[in-house]
Amino acid sequence: MHDSTQHRILLKWYLLLLIAIGIVISNPVTAKENTGWQAVAHGVWRYAGGEKEKINLLDAAGITPNLARINEFPETPFPLNPEEITITRRQGKLYIKFPLEKEEQLYGLGLQFKHINRRGSIYYLHVDHYDGQDNGRTHAPVPFYVSSKGYGVLINSARYLTVYAGTAVRVDSPHPPRIFNRNTDAGWQAMPESDTVEILVPAENAEILVFGGPSLLEVVQKYNLYGGGGCLPPKWGLGFTYRTHTLFSGQEVLQEVQAFADQGFPLDFIGLEPGWMDRSYPCSYVWDPGRFPQPAVFLQTLREKGVKINLWINPYIAPASILYDRMLPYAGTHTVWNGIVPDYTLGEARGIFSDYFGRQLIQMGVAGFKIDECDGYDKFLWPDVAAFPSGTEAEQMRQVYGLLMQDMLMAEYRKINRRTYGLVRASNTGGCRFPFVIYNDYYRHEDFITALINSGFAGVLWTPEVRDSATGEEWLRRMQSVCFSPLAMINAWGSGTKPWSYPEVFEAVKEAALLRIQLLPYLYSTFAEYHFHGTPPIRPMPLVQGFRDQQKVIEGILDDTQNPYKLALRQDIKDQYMLGGCLLVAPVFTGQTSRTVVLPKGKWYDFYTGKLAGENQTITVEAKLEEIPLFVPDGGIIPMIPPQLRTPQTGEILPLEVRHYGSAPGRFLLYDDDGETFDYENGEYSWTELTAGKGPDGNLAGSQQRLSGTIFQYSDISWKFMELKR
Ligand code: GAL
Repeated sequence: MHDSTQHRILLKWYLLLLIAIGIVISNPVTAKENTGWQAVAHGVWRYAGGEKEKINLLDAAGITPNLARINEFPETPFPLNPEEITITRRQGKLYIKFPLEKEEQLYGLGLQFKHINRRGSIYYLHVDHYDGQDNGRTHAPVPFYVSSKGYGVLINSARYLTVYAGTAVRVDSPHPPRIFNRNTDAGWQAMPESDTVEILVPAENAEILVFGGPSLLEVVQKYNLYGGGGCLPPKWGLGFTYRTHTLFSGQEVLQEVQAFADQGFPLDFIGLEPGWMDRSYPCSYVWDPGRFPQPAVFLQTLREKGVKINLWINPYIAPASILYDRMLPYAGTHTVWNGIVPDYTLGEARGIFSDYFGRQLIQMGVAGFKIDECDGYDKFLWPDVAAFPSGTEAEQMRQVYGLLMQDMLMAEYRKINRRTYGLVRASNTGGCRFPFVIYNDYYRHEDFITALINSGFAGVLWTPEVRDSATGEEWLRRMQSVCFSPLAMINAWGSGTKPWSYPEVFEAVKEAALLRIQLLPYLYSTFAEYHFHGTPPIRPMPLVQGFRDQQKVIEGILDDTQNPYKLALRQDIKDQYMLGGCLLVAPVFTGQTSRTVVLPKGKWYDFYTGKLAGENQTITVEAKLEEIPLFVPDGGIIPMIPPQLRTPQTGEILPLEVRHYGSAPGRFLLYDDDGETFDYENGEYSWTELTAGKGPDGNLAGSQQRLSGTIFQYSDISWKFMELKR
């Protein structure tokens, strides 16, 4: 053989070898290795081949998984066939593929506003101000989804992930869709059924966790417990709150507080908007000397009136702020509204923040904060080309900023052993332990309710806040909804509206707010379940045992302008939810005179009258103006206190009325503690079992039994059997 031919052959083999080595190096994780799912706790597995990055969501949130609670669930087998999951690294990116069955539904992927069902769309998970489309850009783009098959997947990465939630069709698909000829087959669709969820992580590494149920509720509980368990707000946080007009002075705020008392409208805490500071956007964090000449006296006066205070902030520090010079060395390269952006992944920056907020504001008596503008829009916030002194990339900073802010503030409250409850506009996975509720400026009532429902899959809290309304009817409908959410709030920062601004509906508005206060024992126990057992306070219908999943695919109409591709849409139940285990809430929107309610299995009763509303069926209810439709399952128990203008203060003993609905036996676990401190973390709380059922004489009777603890701030328990009431 010719020398040069030999050389050529050798060179060819050498090149082939190099390519092969290249493939192995760039693709070290192959399908074969996918059996590497390590059990972390009962029903929680971590992928052995996935390291978390230094900056990741769960660590930024400072979580400690509550494995002990997770292990109280029975062991359950790995919920998927590991062979069907592939995790591949190519050129510095991670490609993750999970299987998807034909009838499988997907929920979650954060705080979306239009739909519950995630299958058939692409999500670019990116912290942002929600802008009217469920495309993944939102205030809490949580990379966790729940499958109707009873498992959940979490990608613990602070990157901008892309999730193809059942859109991508692969050549190697084990269940390929039918091939249509569009010329002749009427059934042709622009989106053939996909049998995968595929996720693109634009980084080499991510922690990947799978949660097994078997029920969907258990999946979400374990996910929340993995994040340390849900927050437990102070009791006052579950009362009513009002945010005053942005430029109100201390004097005007106090007048407002008085007006609430005069009108007999509940008020637990009041919020000050940017005008409490002498400058905002960017912020000084210093009281305005004109509007608040004596902040300490102002706070003392509020304290005497029993009203807590919450202050608005955004993270960007003004050149004129007293924090500016100290913080500058720890700030990013870019500004937001000409303010610097501190790198709060650095201990030094956290120290400066804590020093000021802790000592100047929190110890002075400020009970909470509203952390604004840590979400988006891109045009306002630091760009992805920004750099931060810690080396944290701008993209990662965007994904975790809201978590960092919540963590720092919560730490300050922990130092003084006082709980807080506030607001935030960006959160993420790991945020469930933070007592902050997400809100935004979007303001579409229907979509606010859908977001509320989606919050229950994501381990975050959301408030459908009320600002103003075109009509009294709209005002009332919005107020009714917000009173059945984690935070009952009017945000009058721009409008200056008051609960009584629409006199024609004021009585009904007041009724809704007072009912909220009456339900405090029920709500507080519901949040205790969130904290101790991970059970979300707002439960989307698919999390309810016995809920018949009524989702079906509805086909879009084919036409040559609006929908030339006939996209299949999936119907989802996005306007009703459970608040705790016993209250089905069916909000009414302006203009509705009736609405349908899909009742889960069994008999359900009208909350107000105790009358049977339906059994195993979808009902149509009249939308009475004065009531938000509420339903209770057979045997449901709801503990209540008398209507009053504040939630119970520490040590205040109140009579308890316990309502029982229908005739089935019922059980409710009533939780109590001091309502204000973190002492519950050291066991300072009580659980009381409330049970009701028919005795040997056929009559309904109720009883209560303390299961643990001594703190119990209720007296004179009286039972009300709603079935007999009629
Ligand atoms: C917005 C925020 C509003 C209000 C306003 C004050 O960003 O969403 O709730 O606080 O700022 O300027």
